[in-house]
Amino acid sequence: MTESKPNDLMERIVSLCKRRGLIFQSSEIYGGINGFWDYGPLGAELKRNVKDYWWRLMTQLRDDVAGLDATIIMHPRIWEASGHASTFADPMVDCLLTKKRYRADQIEPQSGLVFHYSGAEEGATPAGAKPKMSGEPYSYLVPDAKHAGRARQAARTFYQQRGLADPHPLGERTESVENSTRYNPENGSLLTEPRLFNLMFKTYVGPVESAENMAYLRPETAQAIFAQFKTVAEVSRQKVPFGICQIGKAFRNEINPRNFTFRSREFEQMELEFFIRPDEVVEAICGAVARPQKAGHPGAPRPDWGWQMWLQYWVEERLAFYESIGLPRSSLVEYWQKPAELAHYARATVDILFKFPFSKRDDKGELAGEELEGVAARSDFDLSQHQRFSGKAMTVFDEELKAAWAKLDDAKKAALTGRYFDARRAYLVKMNEPPEPAARQAQQEAAALAHGLYIPHVIEPSAGVDRLALALICNAYCEDQAPDDKGKMEKRVVMRFSPRIAPLKVAVFPLLKNRPELVAKARQVRDLLRPLMTVFYDDAGAIGRRYRRQDEAGTPFGVTVDFDTLGEQGESLKDTVTLRDRDTMKQERVKISQLPALLLERIQ
Ligand code: GAP
Repeated sequence: MTESKPNDLMERIVSLCKRRGLIFQSSEIYGGINGFWDYGPLGAELKRNVKDYWWRLMTQLRDDVAGLDATIIMHPRIWEASGHASTFADPMVDCLLTKKRYRADQIEPQSGLVFHYSGAEEGATPAGAKPKMSGEPYSYLVPDAKHAGRARQAARTFYQQRGLADPHPLGERTESVENSTRYNPENGSLLTEPRLFNLMFKTYVGPVESAENMAYLRPETAQAIFAQFKTVAEVSRQKVPFGICQIGKAFRNEINPRNFTFRSREFEQMELEFFIRPDEVVEAICGAVARPQKAGHPGAPRPDWGWQMWLQYWVEERLAFYESIGLPRSSLVEYWQKPAELAHYARATVDILFKFPFSKRDDKGELAGEELEGVAARSDFDLSQHQRFSGKAMTVFDEELKAAWAKLDDAKKAALTGRYFDARRAYLVKMNEPPEPAARQAQQEAAALAHGLYIPHVIEPSAGVDRLALALICNAYCEDQAPDDKGKMEKRVVMRFSPRIAPLKVAVFPLLKNRPELVAKARQVRDLLRPLMTVFYDDAGAIGRRYRRQDEAGTPFGVTVDFDTLGEQGESLKDTVTLRDRDTMKQERVKISQLPALLLERIQ
């Protein structure tokens, strides 16, 4: 990618997305709607390719993962069990002047001089009448005392909004502040105190808009997988370890949608919940639990893997996925969340970040990266919660455990039971179960190990389709030089999509549009390839311009039918075409009969 200022580069990428029909604003003719985006013809193909490839790798090419396609609106109790109803919230603040809303944790700290006012009174009051007052305090931050006029004007506006026609702010005093997040970085006005704002979109099911009929649009696809865990396990005849994956829409009423599609209010997720044995069960069956010894891919799964090995396995699988669709390893960051950053149920979470042009820079000036995907070890939290809230058992019966348990000596049984009991009791107490019933239930659950019963733990790789599409677009965007029709070098914008996910795989061109033999042959080639891949047929304009259009669309291959194809230069070149490579711009002569196999090999 050519070096350029990040915002400048992002602007050119956004403009290309609109110009070439990759992504544009939803409801554009009505001025758009903040946080919602539509994908045009090329964008829709790109997204579909990403999802299809993920689905293929995650379930179709594996024995141990089954697919699910659940509804967006589910029983509201699901969101109570998952914790979303009570805790899926961001702190928000409002500007007291403009009423604009911001995420409190995204306010840039400000320094300067604050003008405080204790209230205001009406200027012109009829004789004998009591002056109208506002006792509401207000503050405004300016860089220094020279800007006092701005603070006074803002205060007047503030009190005018509170019903005074000609307000005279009272009790002015100043204070120097350093790195304060109490003021709006856009205008200096005081912000409200942070309040929690639940991000779930609400709706009503049925004709009556009452509290009992309220439901949510799902904020993640994962919970449907947990709620349907038992059914899918049964119908797919899977045994732990196994996974359930799903691709689908998710909705979050983000306070501040931003960075193009990066933070949207409607987006798609690709999630896998991979259910594993708790470490105590692995130890009972295998004698010991394998833990990571070195970095990198740990190879094919083994029965003695504990959650740490599975976490490492999925992080590496996911990194390999990103590399296989064209994101170089150097553009990705593997970020292990610090203990204080972890969700309360997570044992570890590894975020896979991509270095977007708008990412912040670290101390060394390197792009720090933004989250594409989180791979989380979520323990048995989710299934346990659904068990408690639904009253339906989420345990599995593991025959190997039952058989292995019977052969353990008493000391081992006691040690494993004790560890399992501690973990279960800690979970129940954290969920506000009183200590005695919590201990009783944990005791029963630990005793159930002997009968081969337990609630599986889970490793969750959770990726966003839209963020990935944006990463692929940013990574593909490139400006270089290419010859025009007269051989003069000119600037070329080329989208270097990996052929695997490129929206269009090949473009077919007759050299000239007004020669029916060329057109007929080119259409034959198009029809030969179309059942196998996305083909774009283009006969409009000079061939150089047609190449340029396809370069901008990211089409990796171009096939030109010329007079040699028709056999005008002799039999040896008859029924051959030129095959042009988008990135090298090199052309090779290829037999039409060999095109399907050759192209399929290069795009798969
Ligand atoms: N089930 C776990 C879960 O939903 P998350 O980190 O909140 O975890 C997973 O979301 C992924 O979904 C993120 O890594 C990101 O790619 C995508 N995502 C989350 N919020 C998004 C938003 N507002 N806009 C676009 N993508 C989003």
